[in-house]
Amino acid sequence: MRVVLSVGGSILMRGFSSKRIEEYAKVIDEIAEENKIFVVVGGGEMARRYIKISRDLGSDESHSDYIGIGITRMNAKLLISALSDKAYPEVPENFREAKRASLLKDIVVMGGTEPGHTTDAVSAILSEYVDADILINATSVDGVYEEDPKKNPRAKRFDHLTPKALIEIIVRSEMNAGANTVLDILAAKIIERSRIPTYIIDGSDPKNMLKALRGEKIGTKVGVR
Ligand code: UTP
Repeated sequence: MRVVLSVGGSILMRGFSSKRIEEYAKVIDEIAEENKIFVVVGGGEMARRYIKISRDLGSDESHSDYIGIGITRMNAKLLISALSDKAYPEVPENFREAKRASLLKDIVVMGGTEPGHTTDAVSAILSEYVDADILINATSVDGVYEEDPKKNPRAKRFDHLTPKALIEIIVRSEMNAGANTVLDILAAKIIERSRIPTYIIDGSDPKNMLKALRGEKIGTKVGVR
């Protein structure tokens, strides 16, 4: 299978520890034994801090996005270090480079590409471009809820959603100022148009990625029954 894995920076870089990055590398390595895998790494807290400084210095949003992209690529580099020679040694800067890299190695790790979206969208477009069988989005929440579970602890979590229903939930939560939606709207639109089977799972434990891949009941499945 061809697998695209989106790993949030806040997940991978939690505690800023090499041990944690090694744990993810181990699971990715295991997945790569039988699959071709593309990993898209996010920026996490460090990206947010850099972006804040950039904005405070008066930069526009695209300029600040480029700073965020730089951090995602640094995080990708660290994961490549942990994977050593099993991964393609460079961080592809666009989808075509990533596809070419996959002809040489079974594991390709990248970060962001262009301003205006997050690595969620990168992972969805990459899934489309490489014709992935599955997209796993490992994030800091354990799935998609009808509303923000931090604000309403009784909010229901969905085991399954159609892409259309996912888009409706994202649009609804984006109306709230400062809301941090579970998935970038562009990512959801791409998942809808290409019908990419997607799992949104709690990535705090890297083994959850294996569970999603095995089709176990975990997180929210989008468009897969
Ligand atoms: P992330 O994908 O990490 O955003 O990109 P996030 O939603 O904060 O993700 P988590 O918390 O890691 O899950 C960090 C920032 O980098 C810029 C954006 O500013 C984004 O908010 N970025 C990233 C881009 O502009 N383009 C990209 O392709 C990727």
